[in-house]
Amino acid sequence: MKEIFLILLAYLVGSIPTSVWVSRYFFDIDIRDYGSGNAGATNTYRVLGKQWGTFVMIVDMLKGVIGTSLYIFLPTYLGASNELDRTNLMIGLGLSAVIGHIFPIWADFKGGKGVATLFGMAVAIQPAVALCCVGVFLLVLYLTRFVSLSSILAGIAFMVFIIFIFNEKETLYQIFSVVVALMIVLTHQKNIGRILKGTESKVPILKYRDR
Ligand code: G3P
Repeated sequence: MKEIFLILLAYLVGSIPTSVWVSRYFFDIDIRDYGSGNAGATNTYRVLGKQWGTFVMIVDMLKGVIGTSLYIFLPTYLGASNELDRTNLMIGLGLSAVIGHIFPIWADFKGGKGVATLFGMAVAIQPAVALCCVGVFLLVLYLTRFVSLSSILAGIAFMVFIIFIFNEKETLYQIFSVVVALMIVLTHQKNIGRILKGTESKVPILKYRDR
């Protein structure tokens, strides 16, 4: 029963629509009417600039970390012997926060794609793998300047790292990694379409390459 309450709480935490509130309260616009139309850090960077993009990225990531860590309020899960139950609950909490980010109750259920929040969740559950995914993300970003493609490949890399590189035998982790990869691909369907059509926008962070 308490677990269900925490899972709902994680959903409410994930539902905080950072980019929508920043655009509404500081710029009097709705970020979803501009750029890619996505309520996420990348689009905030694109439309409102680097500082706000970074702010949204950090808050959205923290939603994943905090949502996933809500288990600390249930002492039953704190002991070392309860590791599997704890991981189970952490995955439920984290996914609930991510679903909140994608379908936020505070913003007409039209949220972002879940990348930063999924990353925060991964940091809380599998920090080493999350770090490796940052490497993949940055490499793809450097080579292509597509944040979307970098996110998709980092999400798929998360699954590959867990199952094949870190050789995780626990089925729970394997399923979790497949869910993460699937969620990222599903939320990026429009981006995939734009990449294939050649209309996806690039983030101009490596300006010296344009010279
Ligand atoms: O975090 C979402 C990112 O991968 C793509 O965002 O605005 O380019 O659709 P956007």
